[in-house]
Amino acid sequence: MTEGFRPFRVVRKIRESTIITSFYLEPLDEQEVTACKPGQYITVRVPGTAGKTVLKTYSVSSNVTNKSGYRITVKKEGAPVHAPDAPPGIGSCYLHDQVDVGSILEVAAPRGEFYLNEASDRPVLLLSGGVGLTPLVSMFHSLIETQRPVFFLHACENGDIHALRDEILNLSEGNESRVKVHFVYRAPTPADIETAKHHSVGYITKELLQSLLPLDDYEVYFCGPTPFMKAMYNLTRSLGISDARISYEFFGSATSLVEAASVKPAPDQPPQQSQDGGIEVVFAKSGVTGFWHNNTGSLLEFAEDLGLAPEFSCRSGICSTCMCPLLEGEVTYIEDPLEDAEEGNVLICCSQPRGRIVLDI
Ligand SMILES: Cc1cc2nc3c(=O)[nH]c(=O)nc-3n(C[C@H](O)[C@H](O)[C@H](O)COP(=O)(O)OP(=O)(O)OC[C@H]3O[C@@H](n4cnc5c(N)ncnc54)[C@H](O)[C@@H]3O)c2cc1C
Ligand code: FES
Repeated sequence: MTEGFRPFRVVRKIRESTIITSFYLEPLDEQEVTACKPGQYITVRVPGTAGKTVLKTYSVSSNVTNKSGYRITVKKEGAPVHAPDAPPGIGSCYLHDQVDVGSILEVAAPRGEFYLNEASDRPVLLLSGGVGLTPLVSMFHSLIETQRPVFFLHACENGDIHALRDEILNLSEGNESRVKVHFVYRAPTPADIETAKHHSVGYITKELLQSLLPLDDYEVYFCGPTPFMKAMYNLTRSLGISDARISYEFFGSATSLVEAASVKPAPDQPPQQSQDGGIEVVFAKSGVTGFWHNNTGSLLEFAEDLGLAPEFSCRSGICSTCMCPLLEGEVTYIEDPLEDAEEGNVLICCSQPRGRIVLDI
């Protein structure tokens, strides 16, 4: 077992919808699991191609007060519609097709900066799209134990793919005075309509939010596909909710919500930074050079500030998506990656330059 990972047994595998399945994981040593904040994710090692393994991150979808294990809830990712010949998703298909009750998985402890502010007593707005509901379900479990007003709005295609629906409804039962649940289906099936599985049809819109939410000082958490995130960000901002009260988690890779939402548009020109005390960082492929200062953040953030869009996923040294060749110089890791980058490469989401560097970006 690699350092940082612990063997977990799959004790239950539950089909939540046509494309989403939950896996209940308990440590082989039967000791308590590492504490998890509601909203955080765990990392699972799965077999990749050519005999290698890959790391995949999945939000804990269970009640974090359960110290005997974690539940993850995973959508099976087939080849995208625009690339039907592409190989299906490595991690999600492995979990769905090869992992069963009794299987052993290598799991690293919960991480992530997207978690419920449990010290606050403000009302909470949880907005999710598709499988993006997983961290919010965990938050919902925790919020049910408090006296905070909670609005849980979930958008998905229809009842066939809607996961954890009954769990949310059961949790909200008896708490209707402060907990409101609303499911929006884009294309409900005849069965959905007959059984009234959803509350409205279409999308989460400003009008819907205005009709459901009393004016208040909300904390907002959202997670879903990129277009959903962009829409939710713009929507909540347009309702006057400040950036400081908005938190989000991004499941995909290669896109920045900030960039996608035009929150902080990439500058037309790379900033003309002074060279005084700055460290020269050359992005060789893009032909862009900038001068990094101590308060600039990670190399990934720096590249984004310069208008570049390198690939990323976890932004915290876990998934290796941001790995790129370091052609010259050295970096310092501001957060230790879960695994070292391959020889000659660096993880730019959690590193900073030690002196002049040249990256193959
Ligand atoms: C913090 C965090 C939490 C997350 N939590 C969850 C969660 O709770 N539940 C969940 O389901 N997911 C979650 N994810 C997403 C999850 O980590 C994986 O990204 C997801 O399961 C897809 O991984 P995969 O290995 O199955 O697919 P990958 O192998 O990474 O493939 C992704 C897609 O690309 C396609 N593809 C592969 N090769 C090509 C090619 N050559 N051309 C075109 N397309 C190609 C695949 O068919 C697939 O559709 C989370 C991600 C993060 C960052
Ligand atoms: S984005 Fe995941 S390791 Fe950098």
